[in-house]
Amino acid sequence: MSHENIESAMRRALELALLGPAWGVNPQVGCVILDASGQIIAEGWHRGAGTAHAEVDALSKLAAVPAGATAVVTLEPCNHTGRTGPCAQALIAAGVSRVVYAVADPGAESSQGAQTLRDAGVEVIEGVLASEASEQNRVWLTATRLQRPYVTLKWASSIDGRAAANDGTSKWISGEESRADCHKMRSEVDAILVGTGTVLADDPELTARKSNGELYEHQPMRVVVGNREIAADARVLNDRAETVQLRTHSIHGILAALWQEGIKHVLIEGGPMVASQFVRFGLADQYIFYLAPLLLGGSRNAIRELGIESMAEAKHLDFVEIKPLGGDIFVRAVPRSA
Ligand SMILES: NC(=O)c1ccc[n+]([C@@H]2O[C@H](COP(=O)([O-])OP(=O)(O)OC[C@H]3O[C@@H](n4cnc5c(N)ncnc54)[C@H](OP(=O)(O)O)[C@@H]3O)[C@@H](O)[C@H]2O)c1
Repeated sequence: MSHENIESAMRRALELALLGPAWGVNPQVGCVILDASGQIIAEGWHRGAGTAHAEVDALSKLAAVPAGATAVVTLEPCNHTGRTGPCAQALIAAGVSRVVYAVADPGAESSQGAQTLRDAGVEVIEGVLASEASEQNRVWLTATRLQRPYVTLKWASSIDGRAAANDGTSKWISGEESRADCHKMRSEVDAILVGTGTVLADDPELTARKSNGELYEHQPMRVVVGNREIAADARVLNDRAETVQLRTHSIHGILAALWQEGIKHVLIEGGPMVASQFVRFGLADQYIFYLAPLLLGGSRNAIRELGIESMAEAKHLDFVEIKPLGGDIFVRAVPRSA
């Protein structure tokens, strides 16, 4: 079987992985099984916690695995018995001759699947399309490695960097397409977080809604941080999604509490005071900016004091994706690694 053959099978496995949900505690994983000649004979993907893992899903499509088969999977097969059995054992039991995977599993409990396979005499090849797979699964890989939720910080600002006008109004800085994009992003995360300041100023509902107003199937948990009381009739307390208020200013404490709740990906939607604290502590893993073609001036900056006094202390970012979105500009950025 050629290297191109294996690479194209991995590309297919990466496509399949995306059929599973982005939200939830588990990673998106895809798997294809090739016969000895390199033909795809089965495909599988993971549909979320409590359901079959990608490898087992693919194996279930076959009455028997032919001799010389290869399993190509986007993540190292797991080695632990959670709600489902270990995939490494399932692959061994099915008689797969070779396993190819893209990235290693950083989970303390689930890793070492490759070793188990090798010990059973299965040939193991790792690192095929590793950078593509790491990028695709960056949320789960980062959260698992750091043992805290992956943090995406998002804001909409005027092109001069203001998140509101002087009177505090911010509806709407960004256009319809940007807002639709943000709602889709909400539907793919586990929690949305804002400070009490945003709830009191804007009374947002913080649900994930389609353009026709319908709710997306998955609603993230709504998290409000801060000590002030929220009015009982605030929209964020309606019954269209779960809401928790964390009466603390400790950013590390907030992330620890969310991790305990099984939150893998939290989207910070402001306001400037809370957002600044995540930046200050180096706890933003990814930034999404919707930059609108309007000028507001004034003092309502999208981000507040970061404790930076000179250029030498600037927090550098790398732009990963920039695209026009309606009349706005969409920017995805990540902290520049040293
Ligand atoms: N353009 C955008 O994308 C966007 C997004 C959101 C908001 N906004 C605008 O932003 C304005 C509200 O800004 P804001 O900065 O007051 O809102 P905020 O950041 O949502 O809320 C600030 C409050 O959060 C609580 N808090 C929790 N942890 C904190 C910490 N570590 N540090 C500081 N505060 C913490 C405090 O509440 P307690 O005093 O209750 O403890 C604080 O007063 C509104 O005008 C809104 O329209 C714009």
